[in-house]
Amino acid sequence: MSTIKIPILDLKPEIEEIADEVMASFERVMRSGHFIMGPNVKAFEAEVAEVLGTPWALGVNSGTDALFIALEALGVGPGDEVITTPFSFFATAEAVGRVGATPVFVDIERDAFNIDPACIEAAITPRTRAIIPVHLYGHAADMDAIEAIARAHDLAILEDVAQALGGEHRGRKLGTIGDAGAYSFFPSKNLGAFGDAGLLVTPDEEVARTASALRKHGAHRKYYNERVGYNSRLDEVQAAILRVKLPRLEAQNAGRRRVASAYNAMLADLDGVITPSEAPWARHVYHQYTVRILGDRRDHVREALAAEGVGTMIYYPVPIHQLPLYRDHAPTLPVAEELSREVLSLPIWPQMTDETQRTVVDALRRALNQAS
Ligand SMILES: Cc1ncc(COP(=O)(O)O)c(C=O)c1O
Repeated sequence: MSTIKIPILDLKPEIEEIADEVMASFERVMRSGHFIMGPNVKAFEAEVAEVLGTPWALGVNSGTDALFIALEALGVGPGDEVITTPFSFFATAEAVGRVGATPVFVDIERDAFNIDPACIEAAITPRTRAIIPVHLYGHAADMDAIEAIARAHDLAILEDVAQALGGEHRGRKLGTIGDAGAYSFFPSKNLGAFGDAGLLVTPDEEVARTASALRKHGAHRKYYNERVGYNSRLDEVQAAILRVKLPRLEAQNAGRRRVASAYNAMLADLDGVITPSEAPWARHVYHQYTVRILGDRRDHVREALAAEGVGTMIYYPVPIHQLPLYRDHAPTLPVAEELSREVLSLPIWPQMTDETQRTVVDALRRALNQAS
């Protein structure tokens, strides 16, 4: 296999653009000697709340922590069931298990790769407490239908927005539609820290209060712990870096949309390749640009691309319900299983040039010819 010349994600152009500002803000934090729950965390929470239009935004250690702290703050626990998609990163289901509840997987839609609302109702039991839609790759789940089901059955909605910061559903910011939203600032995300970091948002003051205590060992007031919590704080250095990057998020997402629309045009005449769609009510922020390779040849195409130095990824090769942990009790979910054999994420980052995209597309054309 030749070495990768075009990675699936290149963070360096953005890092070069912000390096001086990041170094200056890092130096300010370092010289302040204040590293935990300091002014940058407070300011970042206020700034990101303003961008999202949400009353409560709490910095935490990671997107994973944001998910399980949100579930616990929403009152989900042992004996409860939570309906979610099997076509996601493991953390979505893991968070449900972490609070002692059971994930119930339902199938997904072919177009947007997101949970299929038509499958949710049949999975509801007296134990169902919540639904976790994941806005996969940056495209909104069908929130109109999901909200209607949640209202009818009195279920909470926790949005997994790890991949979709800045994405929208009918003009509403993803993560602010349900009872809580969990964002990840893992470095590869649309807003990436320089390490692990995450954010929990909610419109509900009581949920925010509980979550705020949970992230600090279950204490509203230091040393007056009221429940068993976690150590899950966003640190000052990461918050300072995120504050440098947040004002650029819109431009970064616009860059991703530009690259995606150029790919759509370049790939339009390729047989057997389905490009991603964007629902009329969605604003896609292309955390991933994921195509479907039809005809049982995705893995060959991926190998041929790698031989030409083009990096790709498969998100996700095994739907969560088929992992050993769940598969003995899981239903067959045909769409998720089929798509896990077809999806291929191509290189995308906001500053990607037309020329680099052409190189990817030419290599893909050759790879498809070889594999057919
Ligand atoms: C859909 C989804 N949910 C949750 C997470 C977990 O986020 P983190 O890595 O910040 O814990 C990720 C991150 O990879 C993700 O893609």
